[in-house]
Amino acid sequence: MVRNEIDPLPAIPMSEPMLRTVPPRLGHPNLGLGVGLRTAHFPYILEHWPAVDWFEIISENFMDSGGRPRHVLDRIAARYPIVMHGVSLSIGSTDPLDFEYLGKLKQLARDVNARWVSDHLCWTGVLGRNSHDLLPIPLNDESLAHVVERVRIVQEYLERPLVLENPSTYVTFKASSMTEWEFLSRLADESDCGLLLDVNNVYVSCTNRRTDHDDYIGRFPHHLVGEIHLGGHDEDSDDNGDRLLIDAHGSEVVDPVWQLYAHACQHFGETATLLERDDHIPPFEELLTELDQARTIQQQVLQSRGES
Ligand SMILES: [Fe+2]
Repeated sequence: MVRNEIDPLPAIPMSEPMLRTVPPRLGHPNLGLGVGLRTAHFPYILEHWPAVDWFEIISENFMDSGGRPRHVLDRIAARYPIVMHGVSLSIGSTDPLDFEYLGKLKQLARDVNARWVSDHLCWTGVLGRNSHDLLPIPLNDESLAHVVERVRIVQEYLERPLVLENPSTYVTFKASSMTEWEFLSRLADESDCGLLLDVNNVYVSCTNRRTDHDDYIGRFPHHLVGEIHLGGHDEDSDDNGDRLLIDAHGSEVVDPVWQLYAHACQHFGETATLLERDDHIPPFEELLTELDQARTIQQQVLQSRGES
């Protein structure tokens, strides 16, 4: 595997965002603004072929399916770039890697000419059982070595780099000895994987952990990020009455997350951005309107930097 040579992680002063001075991680192109492909929108897409730059699929929704969903995906993949996003890799688990799953993932990536394949820094099950939840891992040297080894094996098998996403978290482990952005930075350096920054997840996790989300964005290794996710969350309160945010993907992106996205654009430059919606799925036109907001923010940031 060809390794991208990168500089050590820079400390970014938040008042002086850095221009992107290195190519996007692993040579991934900036695909522009995309939407998560959901079956509810199949009829609209096939009729209108809407003006989105790319679609992201949930890998597991198509790995075992033939019939109409796969037929529609093939038609869409013939006209738009496709990115694959998985939820069952379980890269942090202590279970052996599931090569039956990986075989299907590899075949689907070939079939749809996936621009890249992503999943989450998490574990989803143990002893062969899938919880269907993206569960957090302790962030320390031992877990880092474990995940690095597994990422290397997966990448060798898939014959392509993985892209891993920061998860939404609701707890902090006493066994953790480093921040999430440190862990992901070292993981990318040691395994050659790319990173996906979910801005909503940053807002959710930092709010739940009572940490500074602007600081997280400012310190995240911007030169390793090939994709950004945007989505909505639910708000509740914990037993103490404090805010508890839940990553739900069932509502619009809220203003603080848009502000955080603008902050990310300042640091990362133009980066492929995806709107995720998995519940309470609105008409496709509403997603296009939301996507326009992302476009406006990107353009405003670029204009402020004199890049357009
Ligand atoms: Fe995400």
